[in-house]
Amino acid sequence: MKKDVAAQRIKNLPEHFFSSLVAKVQKKALTGADIIDLGRGNPDQPTPPHIVEVLCKAARDPSTHGYSPFSGLKELREAICVFYEREFGVKLDPDREVAILFGSKAGLVEISQCVLDPGDICLVPNPGYPDYWSGIALAGAKRYDMPVIEENGFLPDYENIPREIVSKAKLMLINYPSNPTTAQADLDFFKATVKFAKNNGIIVAHDFAYGSIVFDGKKAPSFLQAEGAKDVGVEFYSLSKTYNMAGWRVGFALGNESVISAINTLQNHYFASLFPAVQKAAAAALTGPQECVKELVDIYQMRRDIFVEGLRQIGLEVCKPAGTFFVWGKVPKGFSSVEFFELLLERANVVVAPGIGFGKYGEGYFRAGLLDGSERLKEAVYRIGKALE
Ligand SMILES: Cc1ncc(COP(=O)(O)O)c(C=O)c1O
Repeated sequence: MKKDVAAQRIKNLPEHFFSSLVAKVQKKALTGADIIDLGRGNPDQPTPPHIVEVLCKAARDPSTHGYSPFSGLKELREAICVFYEREFGVKLDPDREVAILFGSKAGLVEISQCVLDPGDICLVPNPGYPDYWSGIALAGAKRYDMPVIEENGFLPDYENIPREIVSKAKLMLINYPSNPTTAQADLDFFKATVKFAKNNGIIVAHDFAYGSIVFDGKKAPSFLQAEGAKDVGVEFYSLSKTYNMAGWRVGFALGNESVISAINTLQNHYFASLFPAVQKAAAAALTGPQECVKELVDIYQMRRDIFVEGLRQIGLEVCKPAGTFFVWGKVPKGFSSVEFFELLLERANVVVAPGIGFGKYGEGYFRAGLLDGSERLKEAVYRIGKALE
């Protein structure tokens, strides 16, 4: 057999920019260095105990040991609808407007395969979450990068997308609160998005993975709150961040019936939905006590204030995040984002993600996660300050 048997489809997948950097970090860690890794996006807090309890109990119940219905447990689909109506005032049909996913990452890759044909164009934010690119490549479609830069409040400028691109675009991915820019969008932006999508026949997929992590007492609007949103698109939600359930792999897509049906059809060919006990625990997370979410947001907000203030004091220019658990800042003059990553790894044993990994408009920036305790974040600031002296 040939050594490299991968099909062209696999070879077309974008290179995972961050994997080579992770290898460098691991190499440094092997030297015994005390590394403060703020490069990743893995929540550091545990899943709230009441959710774990439901999983344990459900896992002991043999009725959860068989296959789930392909489109997931009705109990979870209904809980998702209760959650969306309670949180956002959005009414959804559990049978026709909900698709349960193995984490929103899976759905964000699947959607391109579900609606794009080879040669179609998908509009994506740049800088943006790199997994969007993978689904587009698997679909044999093309990507058009919408700059989401500081001058525009990190929002896409629909007027500036060339006409010939807009006319060929079939799908658009957007993400607010945004990874990596930490920016927030308001309902007016979503209304303008619905209008743009309707006028041009574009399907919208809004990635709402950080929908619950918004600071200063504010609440992020759901894309589905914009009038007509369900006519043009879907929203992806994740339990990973809201309830620290990243390892559990639970997400869902909501909204346009035709898009949801395509996602469910694709998934029926790949999977038989999630472990029913996990689905029961997910339902409990959505409909159970919500104090844990507020407590989590308070933790991230406290860390944000300490970290942003600290970085500013050592002369770094950083945006004050409206939401997410990241900080997006400018690399000091004279460095590329990768050079800054290397400098901090070498001299400070601190890891940040270079902005270029999120697309070319991310160059000149770094992303740091608020995913370690406040003392460690203070220590990271101190070490970064020393490294820059
Ligand atoms: C912007 C964004 N979307 C989606 C995801 C995927 O989350 P999950 O697959 O855990 O639901 C992430 C994870 O880091 C993310 O940052």
